[in-house]
Amino acid sequence: MSLVSWLDRRMDLASIKRTLLDREVPDRLTWWHTLGSAVLTVFLVQVVTGIVLATFYSPSPEHAYDSIRYIGTQVGSGQLLHGIHHWAASAMVILVLAHMIRVFSMGAYKFPREGNWVLGAGLFVVVLGFSFTGYLLPWDQKAYWATAVGTSIAGTTPVVGSLLLSVLRGGSELGAATLSRFYALHVLLFPALLIGIVLLHLALVIRQGIAPRTKALEDGAPDRTTDVAYPEYYHTAYAETKRGGVRFFPEIIAKDVIVSTIVVVLIVLFALAFGAPLDPPADPTDTAYVPTPEWYFLPLYQLLKMVPGSFESVVAFGVPAALLLMVFALPFYDRGSKRTLRHRPIAMASLTIVLGGSAFLLGAAMREAGPGIPPEVGRPLTSAERAGRALFRSQKCNDCHVVMGEGGDQGPELTEIGLHHSAAWLHSFLEAPSRFRGDTTEMSAFGPPTLSHQEIEELAQYLTSLRGTAGPDVEPQINDTFPDPPVPR
Ligand code: HEC
Repeated sequence: MSLVSWLDRRMDLASIKRTLLDREVPDRLTWWHTLGSAVLTVFLVQVVTGIVLATFYSPSPEHAYDSIRYIGTQVGSGQLLHGIHHWAASAMVILVLAHMIRVFSMGAYKFPREGNWVLGAGLFVVVLGFSFTGYLLPWDQKAYWATAVGTSIAGTTPVVGSLLLSVLRGGSELGAATLSRFYALHVLLFPALLIGIVLLHLALVIRQGIAPRTKALEDGAPDRTTDVAYPEYYHTAYAETKRGGVRFFPEIIAKDVIVSTIVVVLIVLFALAFGAPLDPPADPTDTAYVPTPEWYFLPLYQLLKMVPGSFESVVAFGVPAALLLMVFALPFYDRGSKRTLRHRPIAMASLTIVLGGSAFLLGAAMREAGPGIPPEVGRPLTSAERAGRALFRSQKCNDCHVVMGEGGDQGPELTEIGLHHSAAWLHSFLEAPSRFRGDTTEMSAFGPPTLSHQEIEELAQYLTSLRGTAGPDVEPQINDTFPDPPVPR
């Protein structure tokens, strides 16, 4: 305690505590009021996991993919850490959007919080920037091609398009310059921006107080917030909502902690169940690859597919730009004093149209993309199987083996190999086929140094999941025969 009193004598800690923790807040705040602090929590999760990932990550086309694989296979809990960072990024977008929708539908952006709404909208843009730059970092097929498409869409912006394209890519092509650029934005510029905006945002929340439930500011209010009498009305009515004497600590913060904990637990569960997806390494020559952008860019992506080609650049630039402009400027054209959504028909209609339209486009995009279940397996893959599937392609197993009608026929078909062999057998076989089939076999050994034991195991896991048309529920008929152990010399 002496340290606390030592500091207190010098810095007046008590007054800091008064402003931060003892501040009075309006009574009867809703659970929706906890979304902002959940965003803050997820941001802290991203900072911690991001720093650990950055210590292993190498931002160059030669090493990026391998360093991500290294994190997933060699670093203790690396797969989990990467998974948390991946899923928390989605959670962040969802929570920021939900928080904005809450503030919008409670009219909390109106007098006197116009400035804080603009800051919040800026925060949303930075979060999208994080996601766009982060997507490229693993340097897998998905990362490469989604970014190629994304940056070329940015290149269709009127007037500044080609400049924007070369600034984003660091040249005309997507390559090493793009990767180090995106990395610098992702770990230096955006965090600095985000922390700055968040601090300002929070300082304003503390200074102006939390917006109360909507009814409290409607009875007897002047029609418009621009009315000269409005500020005085507002301050009197707001002071009234704090009559109950509710303190931020511990009354309000308890709800925040509960919601934040649930969010973090959900993120960890997602990370444990699905890991972090990783495609085969980026292959700039493989133009047949069909990229899918991250889910929150899907509505725009789907919209682009639906408009005729000549309109594409207008829509690609125009729709997001118009939406953003409307969001940023919202408090400056919506001056009505009504805050309850039911009393704001235009606001209600706009919200319904934007949310309904996005949901419709997202649904259409996801239906087209399929549920992400590989047909040869018939169920979603585990992260080891997914890594194995990527290896199966990158090691060109397909050149000699047919799976579901595709591939070369030099070796036996593998479509149903999972029905006949165990993972242990497949692991040993891949390490040294000649032990099983004699030195004349045309299948080369994939054991170290070609692939690590971990990678062989991932391949074996994937192969055991192959069921062809039989489906995942059929009992396999294992028929393994192992060769005699090699004669010791
Ligand atoms: C150069 C062509 C070639 C490539 C590349 C190749 N294989 Fe093979 N594979 C064969 C041949 C040929 C056999 C049959 C071996 C024999 O019986 O002598 C075989 C056999 C197998 C078998 C045993 C199948 C059975 O029913 O007995 C498995 C499993 C297998 N390969 C998996 C793979 C995997 C996984 C890869 C990629 C890492 C791969 N193969 C790459 C040619 C190839």
